[in-house]
Amino acid sequence: PRIIFRNAQGQDTPVEAAMGDSLMLTAVSNGLAEIVGECGGSAMCATCHVYVSPEHADVIPTRKPIETEMLESAAAEVTQNSRLSCQIVVTPEMDGMVVLLPDRQY
Ligand code: FES
Repeated sequence: PRIIFRNAQGQDTPVEAAMGDSLMLTAVSNGLAEIVGECGGSAMCATCHVYVSPEHADVIPTRKPIETEMLESAAAEVTQNSRLSCQIVVTPEMDGMVVLLPDRQY
């Protein structure tokens, strides 16, 4: 599926995501510096913070308690759409999904 990462300046980077990869890994392996993923994907750092588009809320599993907890230490503003991208696994239904990147992770 094609995932569109949109940075804080509104610039889009469409990437072809591999099924089963996390959104964090997808972003990092495509060179998107806005996602750090310092803990390697174990929901321990909040440097993979993203905002998911409400239109795709139905294809994204709901936020786990650990995410809500970790997001408290996220650098950028946390909203209802805030997620840890390492906890979202790419599925075919995510084709065309826009993922907003925060302006900072530290
Ligand atoms: Fe550390 Fe997602 S990579 S919480």
